[in-house]
Amino acid sequence: MTRIPVISLLIAASVLTGACSRGSSSAVEPVSGVTPGHALVSVYCAGCHVPPRPQARAPGEWAAVVARMQEHRLRAGMPSIPAGEMAGLIAYLEGGEK
Ligand code: HEC
Repeated sequence: MTRIPVISLLIAASVLTGACSRGSSSAVEPVSGVTPGHALVSVYCAGCHVPPRPQARAPGEWAAVVARMQEHRLRAGMPSIPAGEMAGLIAYLEGGEK
């Protein structure tokens, strides 16, 4: 009795999955040599606590938080976040990552 609906659900699911993977493969953007923000966060922000999600603070607050975390890093004897990575890191946290 329930077999036919289950089978048709499976067929619908496989059709949807196929459509989805086609869509995402064309939406993949080339990596242009710039480290993605989420990678920066896992490198520089995961050493002492769970890496924060961008939603954890309002946009506009992250620069000050990251500056404070930079101080924590230096105090802990960790290498500072390089200036070149800082902008991408803050942009990612502010939600502006390209
Ligand atoms: C050297 C250790 C260390 C590293 C590395 C570190 N943190 Fe922290 N983090 C702390 C400590 C200690 C606290 C609690 C004291 C405080 O808030 O300053 C904290 C608290 C926080 C908080 C909660 C407080 C708030 O103001 O919202 C956030 C968010 C945060 N860190 C984000 C980050 C981000 C983003 C990075 C990477 C740039 C990072 N942390 C890297 C040590 C670290």
